[in-house]
Amino acid sequence: MSRHDDEPVTNFSSNPHISDVLNARITRRQAVFGGLSATTAAMFGSVGLVGCSDDDNGASPKLGFSAVAHSKADFVSIPSGYSAAVLYALGDPIKAGIGAYSNAGLDADFDQRAGDHHDGMSYFPLPNGSSASDNGLLCINHENITQDYLHVAGATSNGGVRPQAEVLKEMNCHGVSVIEIKKTGGVWLVVQDSLYNRRITPFTQMELHGPLRNSGFAVTKYSTDGSTTRGTLNNCANGQTPWGTYLTCEENWAYYFKRATGDDANRNSADNALLSRYGINPGAAGNYGWTTAAGDQFQRLDITVSGASAGADYRNEAYTYGWIVEIDPYTPDSAPRKRSAMGRLGHEGCIFAPAKKGEPIVAYTGDDSRNEYIYKYVSNANWDPADAEGGLDAGDKYLNSGTLYVAKFNADGTGEWIALAYQSNGLDESNAKYPFSSQAAVMVGTRLAADSVGATKMDRPEWGAVHHKSGEVYFTLTNSSSSSSGRGQGGAGSQPVDAANPRSYDAGTDGNPDLDGNVNGHIIRWREDGGMSSSTTFEWDIFLFGARSTYGVSINVSGLTAANDFSSPDGLWFDSSGMLWIQTDDGAYTDTTNCMMLAAVPGKVGDGGEITIGDQKTYIGALPSDDTLRRFLVGPKECEITGITMTPDRKTMFVNIQHPGEDGSPEAPTSNWPSITGDATAVGTANSRPRSATIVITKDDSGDIAS
Ligand code: FEO
Ligand code: CA
Ligand code: CA
Repeated sequence: MSRHDDEPVTNFSSNPHISDVLNARITRRQAVFGGLSATTAAMFGSVGLVGCSDDDNGASPKLGFSAVAHSKADFVSIPSGYSAAVLYALGDPIKAGIGAYSNAGLDADFDQRAGDHHDGMSYFPLPNGSSASDNGLLCINHENITQDYLHVAGATSNGGVRPQAEVLKEMNCHGVSVIEIKKTGGVWLVVQDSLYNRRITPFTQMELHGPLRNSGFAVTKYSTDGSTTRGTLNNCANGQTPWGTYLTCEENWAYYFKRATGDDANRNSADNALLSRYGINPGAAGNYGWTTAAGDQFQRLDITVSGASAGADYRNEAYTYGWIVEIDPYTPDSAPRKRSAMGRLGHEGCIFAPAKKGEPIVAYTGDDSRNEYIYKYVSNANWDPADAEGGLDAGDKYLNSGTLYVAKFNADGTGEWIALAYQSNGLDESNAKYPFSSQAAVMVGTRLAADSVGATKMDRPEWGAVHHKSGEVYFTLTNSSSSSSGRGQGGAGSQPVDAANPRSYDAGTDGNPDLDGNVNGHIIRWREDGGMSSSTTFEWDIFLFGARSTYGVSINVSGLTAANDFSSPDGLWFDSSGMLWIQTDDGAYTDTTNCMMLAAVPGKVGDGGEITIGDQKTYIGALPSDDTLRRFLVGPKECEITGITMTPDRKTMFVNIQHPGEDGSPEAPTSNWPSITGDATAVGTANSRPRSATIVITKDDSGDIAS
């Protein structure tokens, strides 16, 4: 997302925050927090630290690097003893014969160049099935664009009609890159003539799979049998399946669609409710004016009813977006498959629990908007390790039929997963939210289904991560801040809270005086009951609360220090040693530091205890120290840090720097990163345009990263 605080709210359902039920019986325990700072560790020692052994998590990793300081500099800061090189930046060619990027708005051919806004990313060893750490495929999402930098003098619009060439360029800068990379003489490079290299864009033909396929929701002029669609949009975070494929997740896709004023008169009330719940209301203009360009491939993003039937126009085009999309990087000519059994929402990412022989495949996905939910998919088929290199056929087996659940976090620290299945939990034709008449309807209207079963509204679910041994699940809740009333109806600092989303405060003293709510975000985690990822009940607590280290303890609940304070956690990933990596996409602490990445030693659910923040009771994990949470990287100006993976040997880390200088213009860029030297820690040339990029981090002594 190119703006961190502006995720629109489309959930106006009456689902209660748990607080509405609980506030009456929770007594104010402000005293618990009085003078907390010095005594915090002792306090949590007295309430928690139960059963905290290494048995489940394996040997705890140790943070073997010195903390990186806050930085407002226009380069990447990393610990001493490490190097960071630019591997793959906006516009870099992926085919032989495509010229070097001008970075002056002159380039076309973005279906053969790196796209913009690098986001989620996975490494696939070459050959498939190996654990090669010097040759592999990188799959990289390109979530969005910083539009003006792509054109000579910014975007143009002649009398409200966008030039086709500009729109083509902007669309091709979205999607996914698949590139082969190779380490030679210690240096990683893109293999420019690799047969694996390809760009997947908003024009690439995709197959629809699962309940949506051949349903009435998928019928368009392009696919009258509802089996295919074109493209993918706003590919945010990612997933890596146990069978060697890549998942790219469609997040803020809804805002690319145009819908004319008055279109509601030509649709029934159910259809209007469905479109509205996803934010596509009559009068929606559609991002970047793409639908004003001439050509069916652009105008199909205008979903206004215009033909005699669904097969004669694109009234249903938006129903073919909002999905998790599976790509086989090892088979370059394979069409991506949209997996509609996993729900339709603003998918941030898709994170798998460890696959266990004879047990279902389990994956988690969050819906990143204020007030939205966290979901879990459980396959019908049980895992067979013989499918480990099964590609898209294995995807058909595990991802086309299963149960999608939505999370309810109870006030007592327990939780439950509620199935979103046709004809259960009231999801049928008589439902008051939407007349669900099939599983396809439940999936196309996932948000409405979740509303009607009483799921817990969360403070913007972003990435998740699952510990490879314990199976405990961590999820970032990036923030829920707003300029005035936000989610709640109250004024400054007032938002409904509940046990799982317990903070709301007025950050008027922090240099960003307009922000109220859960301004700095938190990270929740849970353990599925019985140690089974497919369990329908769980136990949760809050791992960390983001905050400035200078805040009082009622906001800096986790006792963060200057060496590890952060705001708006977004990217989240466990490496194979069990170290947890946290990336930020922040606008609330950027007066002090650019966005960053930290490493954490996780602990486990229940290792802290019960606390009360204001009037709200909640559960918090053991507090971090500088030894268990440490800042590893700070990015250049106006960027977001997002996307992370490593080679299997843990000696090379790949990280994405998204939208440096996003508030500038071609005439006055606000960042000049990266440097043409390829050193990510260097300052770029004055006045040069910034570029999103993948960087490669290695340790100078060839050791394991961060250990
Ligand atoms: Fe694409 Fe929710 O960040
Ligand atoms: Ca984000
Ligand atoms: Ca994100």
